[in-house]
Amino acid sequence: MKAVGLYKYLPVESDDSLVDLELAQPTPNGRDILVAVNAISVNPVDTKVRAPKDRIETTPRILGWDAAGEVIAVGDEVEHYVVGDRVYYAGDITRAGSNSQFQLVDERIAGQMPKSLDYAEAAALPLTGITAWEALFDRLRISKTGADAARSILIIGGAGGVGSIAIQLAKRLARLQVVATASRPESIAWVKAKGADLVINHRNPVDDELQAAGIASVDYILCLNSTAAHWAAMANTIAPQGSICSIVGTEPVDLDLLKSKSVSFSWEFMFTRSMYHTADMIEQQRLLNELAVLIDAGKLVTTVNEIIRPINAANLRKAHQLIERGNAIGKIVLTGWE
Ligand SMILES: NC(=O)c1ccc[n+]([C@@H]2O[C@H](COP(=O)([O-])OP(=O)(O)OC[C@H]3O[C@@H](n4cnc5c(N)ncnc54)[C@H](OP(=O)(O)O)[C@@H]3O)[C@@H](O)[C@H]2O)c1
Repeated sequence: MKAVGLYKYLPVESDDSLVDLELAQPTPNGRDILVAVNAISVNPVDTKVRAPKDRIETTPRILGWDAAGEVIAVGDEVEHYVVGDRVYYAGDITRAGSNSQFQLVDERIAGQMPKSLDYAEAAALPLTGITAWEALFDRLRISKTGADAARSILIIGGAGGVGSIAIQLAKRLARLQVVATASRPESIAWVKAKGADLVINHRNPVDDELQAAGIASVDYILCLNSTAAHWAAMANTIAPQGSICSIVGTEPVDLDLLKSKSVSFSWEFMFTRSMYHTADMIEQQRLLNELAVLIDAGKLVTTVNEIIRPINAANLRKAHQLIERGNAIGKIVLTGWE
C-alpha cells in the first residue's frame, strides 16, 4: 500500500521530512477495523510530531490523525462495524497514523461518517470535533441542550480547526453567547460565519478587548492558542466561579491567579481516551456518531477550507508548511491516492 512517513525528523523544507513509501497492508485483529483511507486532514499535532529532533526511525513513522474512509475488513471482536461502512476518526497517537492507504483503528474511537458529506468534507472533522466536544461538554461541563443558554464563552483562536467547530457547538447546541478571537479580516469573517456573536482581536490583551466591547466577564473560556501568553488576561476576565479549559501545553503559569475567584481549570487532550484505553473510550465513537447526525440535520457544517489532491509526500509537506505558519482558517484536507 502507499503511505507517507518519515525516518528523520527534519524541517519541512527538506524533501526527506516526509517521504513516499510502499508498505505491507495490515490485517485487523480484536476490536480493530481496517479502513481504506480516502481523505485525511492535517493538524498541528502532525507538525509537532514531525518537528526536527535527533532521532532516526528504523521503521518509517506514519503521521496523520484525521481520516475518512471505508471499512474493508474487521477484527474478530468487532461489534459495531461491517465491511462497506463509511467511517471517520482521529485515531490513536501511539499507533501508525492515517497517512496511508489502509489503516487499522479501534472501532471504539471511529464513528459512522455523516451521510451528507463526501470523504474530504468528513475528514476535516474528527480530531477537532472530538477536541471541541470533549472540551465544551466533558471538561467545561456545559449543557449540550441549552440549559446554560444565558451564559457566555470566550473562544481564543476561533478561526483555526478546533475553533471553527467549537464556535458552532457553543452557539448552535449549547446556545451560549459566543465571543471568539481572530486577528485578520478573513479570519474575522470566517468566525462570524461560524456563529460568533462578537469577534475580538487576540493580538491585544483579550481582557482589554472585552472591556472595550462592554463585556466585564465571561463564564467560560476555551483557550486554543498560547495558554501562557493569554493567561493573565484570562484570569482577569473569567467570571467568579467560572471555568477555563485549555488544549495547548504551556510553560508554567500562576495558578494562584484563579484562586480568589474559585475558578476551575481543566486540560483537554483528545488522545487521552485512546492512549490510556479508558473504560469510557467508546464515548468517542458515540460523540462522532452524534456529530454526524447534527451535520446531516444541517445543525453543524464541515470546517474544510482547502482541499489538496492527491495524498503524497510533496502535498503533505505543503500542508504542513501551511499549518506551521499558525494562521490556518478552518481545515486543510488531502484526498485521493492516484
Ligand atoms: N489538546 C488537544 O487534544 C488538541 C487538539 C487539537 C489541537 N490542539 C492544539 O491546539 C492548537 C490549535 O489547534 P488548531 O487545529 O485549531 O490550530 P490551527 O488551525 O493551526 O489554528 C490557527 C489559528 O490560530 C489563530 N492564532 C494565531 N495566533 C494566535 C494567538 N496568539 N492567539 C489566539 N489565536 C491565534 C489564527 O488566527 P488569526 O489568523 O486570526 O490570527 C488561526 O486562525 C494547536 O496548538 C494544536 O496543537 C490540541
